Amino acid sequence: MLAELLLSAVTPASRALRGMGLVTASVGLWSRGARRSREWGPHYRRCHAAVGRAMGGLSRRRTAVVLGSGLVRDVPIAELLDQFRHVLLVDAVHLPTVRARFAFERRVSFVTADLSGLAGWLEGTEQGRVAPDPGLFAGEDVDLVISANLLSQIPLGVETFLVDHPDRARTLPDDLLARSVRGHLDDLAQARARVCLLTDVVMEKRDRAGALTDRLDLMRGVPLPRPDEGWDWTVAPFGELDAEHEYVHRVHAYADVAGVLRDAATG
Ligand SMILES: C[S@@+](CC[C@H](N)C(=O)[O-])C[C@H]1O[C@@H](n2cnc3c(N)ncnc32)[C@H](O)[C@@H]1O
Repeated sequence: MLAELLLSAVTPASRALRGMGLVTASVGLWSRGARRSREWGPHYRRCHAAVGRAMGGLSRRRTAVVLGSGLVRDVPIAELLDQFRHVLLVDAVHLPTVRARFAFERRVSFVTADLSGLAGWLEGTEQGRVAPDPGLFAGEDVDLVISANLLSQIPLGVETFLVDHPDRARTLPDDLLARSVRGHLDDLAQARARVCLLTDVVMEKRDRAGALTDRLDLMRGVPLPRPDEGWDWTVAPFGELDAEHEYVHRVHAYADVAGVLRDAATG
């Protein structure tokens, strides 16, 4: 607990990003990921394999961009560094522990960015979504973009802000959560590089008898294309959040999704 408080205090982040709960979420991921490394291992292995497939057959391997890089656990960073000249880690929050891990790796760079594009609108300093730097998706030397279990987290941050600021929420569109999901998919569709999308899509809460007691559509009603593969990820086994329930997320993986997203957008 003390370690979490300290880590949160020394992690730099703007007021808007803290208001979206992103520092708390990152620190929570750090401590829960360490506690649950055994249960999360199969999920990480499947993510690594999906990224490995996305790397296959690329004619050039200059820069790989990892969106929602977080703790850099669900991407095979050693393979990426073997095969690409440069790896760009992009997140709203980079914990000092992650920066320290790559302090001597000159081919790893960090970019801090709000990939929802909504932080300014939520705070009232912008009148709408401000798309993230297009260079992150369509930069000249970018050959692979990996959206690494980020998509479902974007609306969660927006929702945290809206719940904590009900007066501001009343002035914003009702469908902001769905818009936040669509915004990231639109950004990915702009990519000239190959795009690998990893995302959890549904959360199911089950009791010890296996009965479904709650379900959340993490895509907030936005349809996704059929995935290349899918699996279940036990995010919180019995006893992690409460003694009588487990929380299992369905994950989708796409090795090369940009064209599919463009086709879907043009109908
Ligand atoms: C489930 S974690 C991803 C795990 C990460 N790929 C790993 O290997 O540890 C989701 C990540 O998305 C980031 N994130 C959530 N909302 C974001 C936003 N609006 N802009 C940028 N990053 C965001 C969080 O900070 C977090 O690191």
